[in-house]
Amino acid sequence: MRFANRMKYMEDKELLSLMELADAPDIISFAGGFPSPESYPIEDIRNSFMKVLETQWKEALSYSSTSGFGRLREQIAERMNKNFGLNLTSDEILITTGSQQALDMTGLMLIDKDDVILFETPSYLGALNALKAYEAELVAVPTDDDGIKIDELKKALDYYKERVKLIYVIPDFQNPTSRCWSYERRKAFMDLIKDYDVAVLEDAAYSELSFKDEKEKPLISFGNDNGQLIYCGSFSKTFCPGLRVAWIAARRDIIEQYLLLKSNVDLSSSAITQRQMSYYLDHYDIDEHIKKITSIYKKRRDVMLEVISKEFPESVTYNVPMGGLFIWMSLPEGKESRELLRRALKEKVAFVPGGSFYPGEAKNNDMRINFSNSTEEQIIKGMTILGRITREYLEE
Ligand SMILES: Cc1ncc(COP(=O)(O)O)c(C=O)c1O
Repeated sequence: MRFANRMKYMEDKELLSLMELADAPDIISFAGGFPSPESYPIEDIRNSFMKVLETQWKEALSYSSTSGFGRLREQIAERMNKNFGLNLTSDEILITTGSQQALDMTGLMLIDKDDVILFETPSYLGALNALKAYEAELVAVPTDDDGIKIDELKKALDYYKERVKLIYVIPDFQNPTSRCWSYERRKAFMDLIKDYDVAVLEDAAYSELSFKDEKEKPLISFGNDNGQLIYCGSFSKTFCPGLRVAWIAARRDIIEQYLLLKSNVDLSSSAITQRQMSYYLDHYDIDEHIKKITSIYKKRRDVMLEVISKEFPESVTYNVPMGGLFIWMSLPEGKESRELLRRALKEKVAFVPGGSFYPGEAKNNDMRINFSNSTEEQIIKGMTILGRITREYLEE
């Protein structure tokens, strides 16, 4: 078959086959970026589905409108307005089938071959892959614990000039490092980008998974009159990924452009899951649910950090995430996390090697370890094994 050029840029086969092994049922997997299934409010979800099927079955089993179920768009706008002091209306919200679809449609809407997209480094593998498919040049902008480095971002914007169409950022508890941008960095970022004709995709998939009471405000709350910011939210990490309910918040004229694409991509997102989500938001307390899951995840993070401090060699460095789902660890330079994964899989433990998260030149000694989706017992067992394998590997 004669494949399109873009297939050359698709995912790395070796990692895919390693990750297939990580899915085996007897593996303790720290690989996925999933919420914990025990956290799903299953009775409330069941009840919402039943109510939707009893009272709105004709609409729920049909196509939804392309922009999404009107009541759900209103609820999302209201929630963002309440949480972030915004003034959004429902026509500034478009429902998407997961925020992954929003990333893909953003590529479709903005990117031509050889355009430049700027990324924090490291960044979300799914965004790198989705946007690579549009044959763009992906450029890494260095990042520190406070977020993307503003002087480096300015250098990249000035160097690539009008070739830069898009900046993709995850300011809150980003995937893979769980870093959260400081207020000052957010402000400096917004002050800088307003002088450039470039779109910003703010991926907020983890923004509500904070372990602290006070949360940073999203970039979109610094003002979006010029329409530069596109905000992607999702219920995947705060509720259930299987529903595939997510959204884009952007200026109305930008939403209209997305609408043209959305009807080509899938006509509409699932009507039944949108209505179920909407029913849930009207009749249950999602904020309480999020409080409950973040306290479970914080406890799991603490258990994981304790095992790491006891079982891993001191030369392995790691962060203490204040939210999100991952710990980001680094082996000493020259050691390869993929090699460690091969050995770990033989002992039925999995994680994701960090090399795939780099837009530019990869560092191969990092690892992303998920703590949300394993019980405390699994964390203790799996991380003790991983600590021992790491010690053995580093001693060679
Ligand atoms: C940063 C980030 N954005 C987007 C997604 C896609 O999420 P979904 O399509 O389930 O909303 C993920 C999933 O892991 C993610 O980590």
